[in-house]
Amino acid sequence: MSLLATWCILLLASRSRLWTASNDSPYKSSVPWSGSICTVIPSADGSDDAPAIISAFEQCGQDGSVLFLNKTYHIESVMKTTGLNNVTVDLQGTLLWSTDTSYWRSNSLQLGYQNQTTAWIFGGNDITFMGHGYGTFDGQGQIWYDLGQNISNLAGRPISLTIANTTNSVFSGIRFVQSQFWSTAITHSENLILEDIYVNSTSNSTWSTINTDGSDTFYSNNITFLRWSITNGDDSIAPKANSSNILIQDSIFYGGNGVAIGSIGQYLNAFEFIENLTAERIICYECQFVGYIKTWTGIQQGYPPNGGGGGIGYAKNIAFRDFVAINTRQAIAQITQCTSYIGLTGGCDTSKFQISNITWGPGVGNTVTSYLAQLQCSAAAPCPDINLVGNFGLIGTNGTERQITCSNVVDPAFPCTGSAE
Ligand SMILES: *[C@@H]1O[C@H](CO)[C@@H](O)[C@H](O)[C@H]1NC(C)=O
Ligand SMILES: *[C@@H]1O[C@H](CO)[C@@H](O)[C@H](O)[C@H]1NC(C)=O
Ligand SMILES: *[C@@H]1O[C@H](CO)[C@@H](O)[C@H](O)[C@H]1NC(C)=O
Ligand SMILES: *[C@@H]1O[C@H](CO)[C@@H](O)[C@H](O)[C@H]1NC(C)=O
Ligand SMILES: *[C@@H]1O[C@H](CO)[C@@H](O)[C@H](O)[C@H]1NC(C)=O
Ligand SMILES: *[C@@H]1O[C@H](CO)[C@@H](O)[C@H](O)[C@H]1NC(C)=O
Ligand SMILES: *[C@@H]1O[C@H](CO)[C@@H](O)[C@H](O)[C@H]1NC(C)=O
Ligand SMILES: *[C@@H]1O[C@H](CO)[C@@H](O)[C@H](O)[C@H]1NC(C)=O
Ligand SMILES: *[C@@H]1O[C@H](CO)[C@@H](O)[C@H](O)[C@H]1NC(C)=O
Ligand SMILES: *[C@@H]1O[C@H](CO)[C@@H](O)[C@H](O)[C@H]1NC(C)=O
Ligand SMILES: *[C@@H]1O[C@H](CO)[C@@H](O)[C@H](O)[C@H]1NC(C)=O
Ligand SMILES: *[C@@H]1O[C@H](CO)[C@@H](O)[C@H](O)[C@H]1NC(C)=O
Repeated sequence: MSLLATWCILLLASRSRLWTASNDSPYKSSVPWSGSICTVIPSADGSDDAPAIISAFEQCGQDGSVLFLNKTYHIESVMKTTGLNNVTVDLQGTLLWSTDTSYWRSNSLQLGYQNQTTAWIFGGNDITFMGHGYGTFDGQGQIWYDLGQNISNLAGRPISLTIANTTNSVFSGIRFVQSQFWSTAITHSENLILEDIYVNSTSNSTWSTINTDGSDTFYSNNITFLRWSITNGDDSIAPKANSSNILIQDSIFYGGNGVAIGSIGQYLNAFEFIENLTAERIICYECQFVGYIKTWTGIQQGYPPNGGGGGIGYAKNIAFRDFVAINTRQAIAQITQCTSYIGLTGGCDTSKFQISNITWGPGVGNTVTSYLAQLQCSAAAPCPDINLVGNFGLIGTNGTERQITCSNVVDPAFPCTGSAE
């Protein structure tokens, strides 16, 4: 294969869009370009750039590179770019998603779990996707926060980027601002590193940034999150069904829920698991929790995304360690097996989903409540091997009370001060 780049010149007949690149292009990059290179030129009139992006991946998605200039690209339609192999994606500019919520609600692509949908399904093997700390996904999410009006899982509200069926790949230096819904989902994937990622979804209205999770994983193994900065109003990172060997390191979360294991157990009689997760050296600033685990009850009520229950399986070998938790809004550690259809309560002792071997600590910081931990395990599946290192002696509460509530925790090595609801 020639070492010289094969410049990719495409004439998109349908749109008369010429993509071009030349050897004296002002475009500079540290990327080790090789193979076919497609430079996506944004439309001059601000029209939809998605067809050009899809074509670039079709042309250069095997042993090639796809380059985005330091320009704004308008994304007005869904994208599916899968089956890529040995490709470098260099994002120097901004991908700006349109605010046509009716279009997105009827056209977003199915994620294949919880009825969730996405604006872009992306995947393949041996991919390097670089944003250099400035390549940006801008979901223009404020319109979604205002449309959602604090309602969870508005149907068709799209995940910005879904990494699907992807192996042996690295995503680095990407910024996700004002995400429409979850910033990223990772599904059916293995051996990924996602590093130096910035997420910030902040609402300027009375409506919250509910569902703006930083990243959710499903059916995925060996996924490493390094140096994420996440500002949002929901789960910071949420490993869900069949997530294993997940490492989250050296990250800072502002205002979200912390590392949220689950929810899981949402599908009647489905066996799902979460195994081997370490979250270490996390700074959690005004998070609701540092680490928490939530399962649906054992009684199915309604259907996903907002209903369900009755799932089986296990979550085990999970550690949240070396954290700094500042002004934690509820508790450092939480387990709940009470999740059920919105507005419904009860059934907290019915889940057969087995939680075991979970460790929080060592860590320092404080909560602004009287709670250090709230550990509510189901009577149908009590939780063994639950550990709070040093009884959270280096963590303060607001006041003199230091509550650790427990239900169905097997032989706790720490003092339970009451029962957990
Ligand atoms: C990846 O693509 C480049 C450019 O075509 C090629 O030089 C290299 O050998 C490919 N690597 C693999 C593992 O195929
Ligand atoms: C991108 O372009 C803008 C203005 O056109 C400039 O301010 C900015 O420094 C450029 N960014 C990079 C990383 O080159
Ligand atoms: C699933 O999503 C579709 C469209 O996205 C929506 O019409 C339907 O109500 C959703 N189902 C549930 C149970 O929320
Ligand atoms: C990923 O692979 C799974 C299993 O083969 C398949 O069910 C799913 O449709 C694929 N997803 C995408 C987005 O291609
Ligand atoms: C996990 O993924 C990383 C990054 O892709 C890779 O280097 C490592 O070998 C994988 N680990 C295993 C056990 O496959
Ligand atoms: C997140 O965005 C908001 C609003 O633009 C800004 O005030 C805040 O400083 C940002 N947070 C971080 C950590 O960059
Ligand atoms: C909130 O953000 C939206 C989208 O950026 C903007 O149009 C609107 O003017 C902002 N409202 C306020 C009150 O700042
Ligand atoms: C929406 O939820 C946020 C966060 O919980 C809350 O502060 C805000 O008051 C709610 N807005 C309305 C109008 O209820
Ligand atoms: C999840 O993992 C379990 C245990 O390996 C397996 O039985 C189940 O089929 C997996 N679920 C899916 C949808 O792949
Ligand atoms: C979890 O880690 C243990 C110990 O390293 C290993 O034996 C086990 O296979 C791992 N589980 C999965 C699902 O990879
Ligand atoms: C408990 O989980 C930790 C990882 O957090 C693992 O190292 C240890 O081997 C597990 N213990 C058992 C008994 O499996
Ligand atoms: C801390 O406790 C004091 C006294 O009970 C109370 O007035 C205050 O609102 C609490 N602060 C927070 C942030 O919960």
